[in-house]
Amino acid sequence: MTKKIVIGGGIILVLVVLGVILATSQSLQPTGEVSSIQPPQNEAVVSTSSASSAAPAASYTLADVARHATQFDCWMAIEGKVYDVTSYVGKHPGGKAILRGCGKDATVLFNTRPDGPGTPHPPEARQILQQFYVGNLKS
Ligand code: HEM
Repeated sequence: MTKKIVIGGGIILVLVVLGVILATSQSLQPTGEVSSIQPPQNEAVVSTSSASSAAPAASYTLADVARHATQFDCWMAIEGKVYDVTSYVGKHPGGKAILRGCGKDATVLFNTRPDGPGTPHPPEARQILQQFYVGNLKS
């Protein structure tokens, strides 16, 4: 009789221990899932912030460009892009010829240089131009 009680108690003890192990492993699972979800969430945040840091290009109308039409504040549009060439006016190898383009769409002037050789600017000039880019021309 006593043996039966001992065996019965032992079985109950084993069942209780198994139950505890089972309950513990189940309660740990959700925590594991959460931590496995977190990294992608972080990735999403990183990609969102990097996407928002790549600000869209500014765009300007010809009326905007026209507000910068002097040798002290000279913007011009060339082939759909807008440049603030103010700091280059005094360095221009073609001298004051550049001023004819201030405040305008200067694509034709830039490509024909009517007051000079009558030919397009060389690739070097286009290279220099890049650093003055401020946005795109709104059509
Ligand atoms: C309406 C705008 C412009 C006009 C009418 C113009 C006109 C000229 C002319 C006539 C020359 C020849 C000078 C000579 O050979 O004695 C020249 C040269 C040059 N321009 Fe312009 N320019 C303009 C805008 C620009 C801009 C925006 C840049 C660059 C940011 C630039 C860069 C140069 C360079 C690098 C040269 C020397 C090229 C060479 O060695 O042949 N120009 N330009």
